[in-house]
Amino acid sequence: MDESYVFFNGKIVPEKEVSISIRSKVVNYGLACFEGIRAYWDEEGQQLYGFRFKEHYERLLQSCKALYIDIPYTVSELSDITAELLRRNGFRTTVYIRPLAYKGGEGLNPTLLDDDNRLLIYCQPLGNFSGKQEMRVAFTSWQRLRDNMLPPRTKASAAYLNSALASLEVLRNGFDEALFLTDNGNVCEGPGENIFMVKKGKLVTPPPSDNILEGITRETIITLAKEEFGMEVVERSIPRNELFSAQEVFFSGTAMEVMPIVEVDRRTVGTGRPGDICTKLKSLFFEITVGKNPKYAGFCTPVY
Ligand SMILES: Cc1ncc(COP(=O)(O)O)c(C=O)c1O
Repeated sequence: MDESYVFFNGKIVPEKEVSISIRSKVVNYGLACFEGIRAYWDEEGQQLYGFRFKEHYERLLQSCKALYIDIPYTVSELSDITAELLRRNGFRTTVYIRPLAYKGGEGLNPTLLDDDNRLLIYCQPLGNFSGKQEMRVAFTSWQRLRDNMLPPRTKASAAYLNSALASLEVLRNGFDEALFLTDNGNVCEGPGENIFMVKKGKLVTPPPSDNILEGITRETIITLAKEEFGMEVVERSIPRNELFSAQEVFFSGTAMEVMPIVEVDRRTVGTGRPGDICTKLKSLFFEITVGKNPKYAGFCTPVY
């Protein structure tokens, strides 16, 4: 790739032409929300597939609504712009796409009433985000933000300071990733991932009311577990200690994909190796991301 193209101020332009004011509200106060989307490269079929563009852009527009960031595009326009951007960049590899809707206005007041609303989209190649095949995690002493504090469900940029503090703490303590508890002590999610456990053959994951981001990978995993493996999936609060006796624990997320967790707070999960259910869900997940399963072809947008 000789030159990187991005979508900025309504046009696809070379990235080097883009600049954002140092006085803008996005730079000073993080007044923005974003999405993280993947497009998967299928080497065999020589095709790039956008994964669940519709759901990601629906979520972006919901976040924008909650945060008064009014961008003038529909879900289908955003999907078309993204496909065009991927083509302009000529990607022939798996890619991460980052749409960012933000307040571009200047001035000292951190107000969402600023009407300088903007959208940018950039993308970059991304394989295995963490470079790991399994993770050892620990609970952070930082609490997850509550929905009526700074709603995690809006993917607000400013909320990722909460994630960054959690990751910093546990990485410095020698673990691979952090886990948040809610303010009443239930398992919440990772800094950028949802969490699942397998308990007595059922798949269990915290409910939206436990201040999680309602992940699109989470929803995909729930669908696959029910439809393809006939599993019972339960959305309920998980007390911290229950995680220690789970048969399997794993993360789901766009960047992290499906990631087995083999240790929580220095306690071995299950056999200490990636579990069967997680492994099967992960391979099915990768199959559907490249359009190999006709039942889920609707999740994939061919780019070329
Ligand atoms: C806080 C948080 N939780 C969960 C997720 C997983 O969501 P998704 O599967 O839609 O990427 C993400 C990633 O976007 C996230 O940032």
